[in-house]
Amino acid sequence: MRRIMVAGNWKMHGSQTMVRSLLESVLAGTRDNAALDVAVFPPFPYLPLVQSLAAGSPLAWGGQNLNPHAQGAHTGEVSGSMLTDFGCRYVLVGHSERRAIYGEGNADVAARYQAAQEAGLVPVLCVGETIEQREAGKTEQIVAAQIDAVLAESGVQSFGEAIVAYEPVWAIGTGLTATPEQAQAVHAFIRDKFAALDGTIAGQLRILYGGSVKGSNAADLFARNDIDGGLVGGASLTAEDFLAICRCVI
Ligand code: PGA
Repeated sequence: MRRIMVAGNWKMHGSQTMVRSLLESVLAGTRDNAALDVAVFPPFPYLPLVQSLAAGSPLAWGGQNLNPHAQGAHTGEVSGSMLTDFGCRYVLVGHSERRAIYGEGNADVAARYQAAQEAGLVPVLCVGETIEQREAGKTEQIVAAQIDAVLAESGVQSFGEAIVAYEPVWAIGTGLTATPEQAQAVHAFIRDKFAALDGTIAGQLRILYGGSVKGSNAADLFARNDIDGGLVGGASLTAEDFLAICRCVI
Protein backbone atom coordinates (compact mmCIF):
# COMPACT_ATOMS: atom_id res chain seq x y z
CA MET A 1 0.00 0.00 0.00
CA ARG A 2 1.17 3.54 -0.82
CA ARG A 3 1.92 5.57 2.31
CA ILE A 4 1.02 9.24 2.21
CA MET A 5 3.20 11.73 4.07
CA VAL A 6 1.82 14.86 5.70
CA ALA A 7 4.67 17.16 6.72
CA GLY A 8 4.18 20.38 8.66
CA ASN A 9 6.62 23.21 7.94
CA TRP A 10 6.14 25.62 10.83
CA LYS A 11 8.52 28.18 9.28
CA MET A 12 9.43 30.92 11.82
CA HIS A 13 6.37 30.41 14.00
CA GLY A 14 5.85 29.01 17.45
CA SER A 15 6.44 29.28 21.17
CA GLN A 16 6.91 26.62 23.82
CA THR A 17 3.23 26.88 24.70
CA MET A 18 2.13 26.54 21.10
CA VAL A 19 4.48 23.61 20.41
CA ARG A 20 3.26 21.74 23.47
CA SER A 21 -0.44 22.09 22.74
CA LEU A 22 -0.11 21.56 18.98
CA LEU A 23 1.97 18.41 19.37
CA GLU A 24 -0.22 16.96 22.09
CA SER A 25 -3.27 17.29 19.82
CA VAL A 26 -1.46 16.05 16.72
CA LEU A 27 -0.06 13.03 18.57
CA ALA A 28 -3.49 12.17 19.94
CA GLY A 29 -5.17 12.66 16.57
CA THR A 30 -2.79 10.75 14.29
CA ARG A 31 -2.28 7.42 16.04
CA ASP A 32 -2.69 4.09 14.28
CA ASN A 33 -2.95 4.96 10.63
CA ALA A 34 -0.88 2.55 8.59
CA ALA A 35 -1.40 4.63 5.44
CA LEU A 36 -0.04 7.86 6.91
CA ASP A 37 3.39 9.20 7.87
CA VAL A 38 3.41 12.49 9.77
CA ALA A 39 6.39 14.76 10.29
CA VAL A 40 6.85 18.26 11.67
CA PHE A 41 9.57 20.80 10.95
CA PRO A 42 9.81 23.22 13.89
CA PRO A 43 12.26 26.12 14.22
CA PHE A 44 15.60 24.90 15.64
CA PRO A 45 15.10 25.99 19.28
CA TYR A 46 11.99 23.82 19.61
CA LEU A 47 13.60 20.59 18.40
CA PRO A 48 14.44 19.31 21.91
CA LEU A 49 10.88 20.00 23.06
CA VAL A 50 9.47 18.17 20.03
CA GLN A 51 11.87 15.32 20.69
CA SER A 52 10.78 15.01 24.31
CA LEU A 53 7.07 15.10 23.41
CA ALA A 54 7.18 12.84 20.34
CA ALA A 55 9.92 10.32 21.22
CA GLY A 56 8.57 6.79 20.89
CA SER A 57 5.55 7.93 18.84
CA PRO A 58 5.08 7.40 15.09
CA LEU A 59 5.56 11.16 14.53
CA ALA A 60 8.89 12.15 12.99
CA TRP A 61 10.55 15.57 12.97
CA GLY A 62 13.19 17.46 11.10
CA GLY A 63 15.02 20.75 10.65
CA GLN A 64 14.02 23.46 8.20
CA ASN A 65 17.58 23.87 6.91
CA LEU A 66 21.18 22.93 7.63
CA ASN A 67 24.59 24.35 6.88
CA PRO A 68 26.54 22.49 4.17
CA HIS A 69 29.57 22.24 6.50
CA ALA A 70 29.84 19.53 9.16
CA GLN A 71 31.18 21.92 11.84
CA GLY A 72 33.43 24.92 12.33
CA ALA A 73 33.52 28.71 12.36
CA HIS A 74 30.03 29.40 11.00
CA THR A 75 28.42 31.59 13.65
CA GLY A 76 24.66 31.29 13.70
CA GLU A 77 24.52 28.10 11.65
CA VAL A 78 23.36 24.56 12.43
CA SER A 79 24.91 21.35 11.07
CA GLY A 80 23.32 18.07 10.07
CA SER A 81 24.86 16.17 12.99
CA MET A 82 23.29 18.68 15.42
CA LEU A 83 19.90 17.82 13.92
CA THR A 84 20.44 14.07 14.28
CA ASP A 85 21.60 14.74 17.85
CA PHE A 86 18.02 15.88 18.53
CA GLY A 87 16.45 12.89 16.85
CA CYS A 88 15.68 14.50 13.49
CA ARG A 89 15.01 12.07 10.67
CA TYR A 90 14.47 14.71 7.98
CA VAL A 91 15.65 18.14 6.89
CA LEU A 92 14.18 20.54 4.33
CA VAL A 93 16.64 21.75 1.72
CA GLY A 94 16.07 24.43 -0.88
CA HIS A 95 12.74 25.72 0.38
CA SER A 96 11.71 28.59 -1.91
CA GLU A 97 11.98 31.07 0.98
CA ARG A 98 15.61 30.01 1.47
CA ARG A 99 16.22 30.35 -2.25
CA ALA A 100 14.45 33.72 -2.64
CA ILE A 101 15.21 35.51 0.64
CA TYR A 102 18.56 33.99 1.61
CA GLY A 103 20.07 33.57 -1.85
CA GLU A 104 20.50 29.79 -1.82
CA GLY A 105 21.14 28.85 -5.43
CA ASN A 106 20.99 25.40 -6.99
CA ALA A 107 24.64 24.56 -6.22
CA ASP A 108 24.28 25.65 -2.60
CA VAL A 109 21.11 23.58 -2.21
CA ALA A 110 22.92 20.58 -3.72
CA ALA A 111 25.70 20.98 -1.14
CA ARG A 112 23.13 21.07 1.69
CA TYR A 113 21.41 17.96 0.31
CA GLN A 114 24.74 16.15 0.26
CA ALA A 115 25.60 17.32 3.79
CA ALA A 116 22.20 16.10 5.00
CA GLN A 117 22.79 12.60 3.68
CA GLU A 118 26.33 12.54 5.05
CA ALA A 119 24.84 13.30 8.48
CA GLY A 120 22.31 10.47 8.12
CA LEU A 121 19.30 12.71 7.48
CA VAL A 122 16.69 12.25 4.75
CA PRO A 123 16.66 15.50 2.74
CA VAL A 124 13.33 16.86 1.54
CA LEU A 125 14.43 18.64 -1.62
CA CYS A 126 12.05 21.52 -2.38
CA VAL A 127 11.66 22.61 -5.99
CA GLY A 128 9.23 24.86 -7.82
CA GLU A 129 8.74 27.74 -10.20
CA THR A 130 7.63 31.36 -9.76
CA ILE A 131 4.51 32.68 -11.44
CA GLU A 132 6.64 34.50 -14.05
CA GLN A 133 8.45 31.28 -14.88
CA ARG A 134 5.16 29.38 -15.16
CA GLU A 135 3.62 32.01 -17.39
CA ALA A 136 6.73 31.94 -19.58
CA GLY A 137 6.25 28.17 -20.01
CA LYS A 138 9.45 27.42 -18.07
CA THR A 139 8.09 25.29 -15.20
CA GLU A 140 9.68 22.03 -16.34
CA GLN A 141 12.97 23.71 -17.24
CA ILE A 142 13.25 25.34 -13.80
CA VAL A 143 12.30 22.21 -11.87
CA ALA A 144 14.65 20.09 -13.98
CA ALA A 145 17.57 22.47 -13.31
CA GLN A 146 16.87 22.40 -9.56
CA ILE A 147 16.94 18.60 -9.59
CA ASP A 148 19.89 18.33 -12.01
CA ALA A 149 22.14 20.30 -9.65
CA VAL A 150 21.51 17.69 -6.95
CA LEU A 151 21.88 14.77 -9.37
CA ALA A 152 25.26 16.17 -10.48
CA GLU A 153 26.48 16.36 -6.88
CA SER A 154 24.96 13.24 -5.33
CA GLY A 155 23.75 10.97 -8.15
CA VAL A 156 20.42 9.27 -8.77
CA GLN A 157 21.00 6.54 -6.17
CA SER A 158 20.95 9.17 -3.44
CA PHE A 159 17.23 9.64 -4.13
CA GLY A 160 16.66 6.20 -2.64
CA GLU A 161 16.99 8.06 0.69
CA ALA A 162 15.40 11.40 -0.17
CA ILE A 163 12.05 13.05 -0.70
CA VAL A 164 11.15 15.66 -3.32
CA ALA A 165 8.62 18.39 -2.56
CA TYR A 166 7.12 20.25 -5.51
CA GLU A 167 6.11 23.67 -4.22
CA PRO A 168 5.09 26.19 -6.88
CA VAL A 169 6.22 29.51 -5.39
CA TRP A 170 2.99 31.22 -6.46
CA ALA A 171 0.95 28.80 -4.35
CA ILE A 172 2.92 29.14 -1.10
CA GLY A 173 1.10 31.08 1.59
CA THR A 174 -1.12 32.72 -1.01
CA GLY A 175 -4.26 30.59 -0.74
CA LEU A 176 -3.78 29.77 -4.43
CA THR A 177 -3.41 26.01 -4.63
CA ALA A 178 -2.25 24.42 -7.84
CA THR A 179 -5.15 22.39 -9.19
CA PRO A 180 -4.71 18.66 -8.72
CA GLU A 181 -4.20 18.46 -12.51
CA GLN A 182 -1.48 21.13 -12.49
CA ALA A 183 0.29 19.51 -9.56
CA GLN A 184 -0.03 15.98 -10.96
CA ALA A 185 1.43 17.14 -14.30
CA VAL A 186 4.59 18.44 -12.65
CA HIS A 187 4.83 15.44 -10.32
CA ALA A 188 4.61 13.11 -13.33
CA PHE A 189 7.29 15.16 -15.07
CA ILE A 190 9.56 14.75 -12.02
CA ARG A 191 8.90 11.00 -11.76
CA ASP A 192 9.51 10.52 -15.49
CA LYS A 193 12.76 12.41 -15.17
CA PHE A 194 13.93 9.95 -12.52
CA ALA A 195 12.51 6.99 -14.43
CA ALA A 196 14.80 7.83 -17.34
CA LEU A 197 17.73 7.33 -14.94
CA ASP A 198 16.54 4.53 -12.65
CA GLY A 199 13.11 2.93 -12.75
CA THR A 200 13.28 1.51 -9.24
CA ILE A 201 14.29 4.81 -7.64
CA ALA A 202 11.57 6.62 -9.63
CA GLY A 203 8.91 4.14 -8.55
CA GLN A 204 9.79 4.45 -4.87
CA LEU A 205 10.45 8.19 -4.77
CA ARG A 206 8.09 10.18 -2.59
CA ILE A 207 7.02 13.42 -4.25
CA LEU A 208 5.09 15.74 -1.93
CA TYR A 209 3.04 18.72 -3.07
CA GLY A 210 3.24 22.00 -1.17
CA GLY A 211 1.39 25.29 -1.61
CA SER A 212 -1.77 26.14 0.34
CA VAL A 213 -2.65 22.52 1.13
CA LYS A 214 -5.78 22.46 3.34
CA GLY A 215 -8.34 19.98 4.59
CA SER A 216 -10.60 21.03 1.73
CA ASN A 217 -8.16 20.20 -1.08
CA ALA A 218 -5.85 17.53 0.35
CA ALA A 219 -7.96 14.48 -0.54
CA ASP A 220 -8.15 15.53 -4.18
CA LEU A 221 -4.40 16.13 -4.34
CA PHE A 222 -3.42 12.92 -2.56
CA ALA A 223 -5.67 10.86 -4.85
CA ARG A 224 -3.42 11.62 -7.85
CA ASN A 225 -1.01 8.91 -8.92
CA ASP A 226 2.19 10.86 -8.44
CA ILE A 227 1.27 12.97 -5.39
CA ASP A 228 2.54 11.10 -2.34
CA GLY A 229 1.59 13.62 0.30
CA GLY A 230 1.84 17.26 1.26
CA LEU A 231 4.30 19.76 2.69
CA VAL A 232 2.01 22.03 4.66
CA GLY A 233 2.86 25.52 5.89
CA GLY A 234 0.04 27.70 7.22
CA ALA A 235 -2.37 24.85 7.90
CA SER A 236 0.23 23.00 10.00
CA LEU A 237 0.14 25.67 12.71
CA THR A 238 -3.20 24.70 14.22
CA ALA A 239 -4.00 21.14 15.23
CA GLU A 240 -7.50 21.32 13.80
CA ASP A 241 -6.31 22.33 10.31
CA PHE A 242 -3.38 19.93 10.29
CA LEU A 243 -5.48 17.00 11.48
CA ALA A 244 -8.11 17.80 8.83
CA ILE A 245 -5.40 17.17 6.22
CA CYS A 246 -4.22 14.00 7.97
CA ARG A 247 -7.80 12.73 8.06
CA CYS A 248 -7.85 12.86 4.22
CA VAL A 249 -5.56 9.84 4.35
CA ILE A 250 -7.58 6.72 5.02
P1 PGA B 1 1.69 26.98 2.71
O1 PGA B 1 3.30 26.75 2.78
O2 PGA B 1 1.04 25.66 2.99
O3 PGA B 1 1.42 28.00 3.78
O4 PGA B 1 1.39 27.47 1.33
C1 PGA B 1 3.89 25.60 2.23
C2 PGA B 1 5.39 25.66 2.41
O5 PGA B 1 5.99 26.74 2.29
O6 PGA B 1 6.04 24.62 2.69
